Amino acid sequence: MILVVGATGLLGGEICSRLSERGESVRALARKTSDGAKVQRLKSLRVKVVEGDLKDRASLEAACRGASTVISTATTTLSRQPDDSIGGVDQDGQLQLVDAARQAGVAQFIYVSYSGNLEVDCPLHTAKRTVERHLRESGLTYTILRPSVFMEVWLSPALGFDFSNGTARLFGTGQRPISWISLGDVAEFAVRCVGHPAARNAVIELGGPEALSHVEVVRTFEEVTGRHFDTQHVPETVLEEQWRGAADPVQKSFAALMLGFAHGDSIDMRQTLKVFPVREVTVREYATRVTGVA
Ligand SMILES: NC(=O)c1ccc[n+]([C@@H]2O[C@H](COP(=O)([O-])OP(=O)(O)OC[C@H]3O[C@@H](n4cnc5c(N)ncnc54)[C@H](OP(=O)(O)O)[C@@H]3O)[C@@H](O)[C@H]2O)c1
Repeated sequence: MILVVGATGLLGGEICSRLSERGESVRALARKTSDGAKVQRLKSLRVKVVEGDLKDRASLEAACRGASTVISTATTTLSRQPDDSIGGVDQDGQLQLVDAARQAGVAQFIYVSYSGNLEVDCPLHTAKRTVERHLRESGLTYTILRPSVFMEVWLSPALGFDFSNGTARLFGTGQRPISWISLGDVAEFAVRCVGHPAARNAVIELGGPEALSHVEVVRTFEEVTGRHFDTQHVPETVLEEQWRGAADPVQKSFAALMLGFAHGDSIDMRQTLKVFPVREVTVREYATRVTGVA
């Protein structure tokens, strides 16, 4: 049985759906406060939903009991309750989950971190790298996935890429290449890593099929839609000021991510794709899908 923590999130939900399609027995951790529709969707996939919280060690011990694999995608960056924080959940909660998994004798722990190119200091960075280190030293068989930027999140209106209205906010010059990846592909890699010998005690950087600058992404959307985009550049100096000045941990982390993307995040996938031959979604295919162009 595979336990998924973060199952009510975008990536965790997609992982549950793919595991279930493959006939795996899946248990999902959800909270009292999790969105009821998302919990229902998991149940409709024949996923067994158990209640728990990364802040509650006993609930993690119960959830890990009998699990052969744990996959954790949870984060508080976008989905959080008033008592959640990056330090308390993304860091300490994930550390507790690793310990609970080890105690339960779990055979493999798959942890979703983020790209090794993103090294701007912030609470999320500290959490990700601290959990990675703890997991590597835990004695558990680990797989650390380090994806680049999700297209569905960062090329969406919520984060300033408004393809419906033809406007886009670009970080820095927008000239540095980024290996935008579709979250469905991240889910596919996570699922293929379950029990795979090449995923044993491995750190796997995950990017999409091509590294494109933000400016090239805009050009691709313009070509696909036949429409001109108005772009607004947030200069690197402004991003740096935001990052230095941010006191709130979430704001500091978002500022660090935007600065990191301005620096670029190019990932060479040739070796990984030889081992895990996933047919990855291109930015052009994503643009075609989300803009509804046939
Ligand atoms: N977005 C990107 O471009 C990007 C790039 C690289 C890596 N990543 C990583 O990818 C992972 C998945 O992201 P996502 O987009 O799927 O996130 P998401 O949609 O915001 O989902 C977050 C999940 O974490 C759960 N969660 C939050 N606090 C919790 C707690 N205290 N106890 C238990 N569960 C808790 C949420 O549960 P509720 O529904 O109950 O709130 C939800 O299921 C994250 O680790 C993120 O850092 C993202």
